[in-house]
Amino acid sequence: MKGIILAGGSGSRLSPSTDSISKHLLAVYDKPMIYYPLSVLMLGGITDIMIITTPEDKPRFKDLLGDGSSLGINLNYLEQSDPNGIPEAFILAEDFIGKDDVTLILGDNIFYGQGFTTLFRKALENHRNATIFGYRVKDAHRFGVAEFDHNQKVISLEEKPEQPKSDFAVTGLYIYDYRAVQIAKQLPYSARGELEITDLNKEYLKGSQLDVQLLGRGFAWMDAGTHESLFEASEFVKITQQRQGFKIACLEEIAYYMGYMSQKALKEKGRAMEKTDYGKYLLEIADRKHTEQYWESIDRNPMLGLVENE
Ligand code: G1P
Repeated sequence: MKGIILAGGSGSRLSPSTDSISKHLLAVYDKPMIYYPLSVLMLGGITDIMIITTPEDKPRFKDLLGDGSSLGINLNYLEQSDPNGIPEAFILAEDFIGKDDVTLILGDNIFYGQGFTTLFRKALENHRNATIFGYRVKDAHRFGVAEFDHNQKVISLEEKPEQPKSDFAVTGLYIYDYRAVQIAKQLPYSARGELEITDLNKEYLKGSQLDVQLLGRGFAWMDAGTHESLFEASEFVKITQQRQGFKIACLEEIAYYMGYMSQKALKEKGRAMEKTDYGKYLLEIADRKHTEQYWESIDRNPMLGLVENE
């Protein structure tokens, strides 16, 4: 399974904050936005990841995340020169995808909730053709919207409809087989001049090859693409982290519990940024007894948010 994070686009809805920098590098409370989607892929066990950015921002992402080796993952970078829409990611990453399945996550999407890791891993395991994730929202007209029948089978999909047929938004997390590349190449440009992910999903839907996983009320899904939603996401992360003392989307913590990063490396990273809360947190984790051995195996480690029998 390959992973793609789409972190391109002009971020015009966040101007002037994004006039000289990618929105995906702005902070959501205490860490850059891209940490959140990257943490999702890592929790799913996806280690071969392509980050797609604008040409101007590529060096900044590389500065931040490098080749991923310090986190035990493999990061590569591609440029999207113009904001031509989400499906263009598959065309750009054709060689990287090859004949593998691919999970795409949008760089401004944040997923959080008890059991999310388990649900996502199961979706990856059971995946055939195409899988999308639905989430109930009050303002469905801002998103791709999925309508279902009584058996939770998708019957229609619409991109930002004025009159949504349901309250279920299609989140920015998608799993496809390699055919997504060829389908993307044949999509028409929409009225807003982009290739639309909803059109790609409709192609799978036509062949009854689109599965949907619903994220229930215990989950938080946020996109941080506007000033309002970015601020709300920061507040959510701050409140949740302060209450429990766990950080959301701490990449080093995930790498450590997944067994990709040694305790020694974790301590070194923590010491290097000891003056920050983030650094102190890394040192605290390195000293915790709740290591992989303690929980017998990585798959039983509740620190990763895994829930059995869900
Ligand atoms: C995009 C997709 C939309 C999806 C949303 C999730 O919207 O087009 O279908 O629901 O991401 O974040 P956009 O970012 O273009 O508003």
